[in-house]
Amino acid sequence: MVHATQNPILTTHIHTLFHPARPNHKPPPRTPHTLKIMPADQVRVLISRDQIAARIAELGHQITADVHADRRAAPQHTGQPRRLVVVPVLTGSIIFLADLIRHIPLKMTIRPVTISSYPGAATTTQGANIHGGIPTDLAGADVIIVDDILDSGKTLGLLRRMIQAQNPATLRIAVLLRKDEATGRRQEQVDVHYVGFEIGDDFVIGYGLDYDGEYRNLPDIGVMG
Ligand code: IMP
Ligand code: MG
Repeated sequence: MVHATQNPILTTHIHTLFHPARPNHKPPPRTPHTLKIMPADQVRVLISRDQIAARIAELGHQITADVHADRRAAPQHTGQPRRLVVVPVLTGSIIFLADLIRHIPLKMTIRPVTISSYPGAATTTQGANIHGGIPTDLAGADVIIVDDILDSGKTLGLLRRMIQAQNPATLRIAVLLRKDEATGRRQEQVDVHYVGFEIGDDFVIGYGLDYDGEYRNLPDIGVMG
């Protein structure tokens, strides 16, 4: 049983929570390697957890710098600071989101949307379906859409149009993966501002990405078969 203890760091300024001094820090024990978690399945690691972690830190720093730069360039005169609203596309972006936002030391709110385009075991796009609506109060906000992967472009194309119609101050898109345009899979051109990794035509799983709803919990990004 692990007991919570009073932690003095919780009384410090919010920014220091992102970069606390960590005397005597020991790294946590590593989970067993992906390939041994699900012994019945053959998975080839395409992008390791360490590569993912390093790249996400870079993306977070870049996003933070860009939001600061935007605000300096176009200060608001309403007396209200501009809101940063992160819009993750569920379910595939959850792990990317969780890691990315911890590298963005700014006040933000998170407003998830649920969009499916790969019902069941399909591995090619079936067109995008939005479930449960999208946030409607994005006017004047700095909005960042976060998704796992840009493939046909239908999901992000649809969501970007719906959010742009609300006149946010800025609208940017971050994806962990982008399938190479040369694969011929892109059906809609979508400007993505932050890309973790470019990949080829593989159908990938892990780190949030699923096949038929499973494998999202693999710590690395892999290819089946
Ligand atoms: P798009 O609308 O075709 O760009 O597809 C985007 C969505 O399809 C992503 O958010 C993923 O959920 C899913 N998807 C596309 N490619 C893959 C893949 O290789 N593995 C798992 N899911 C994928
Ligand atoms: Mg998705």
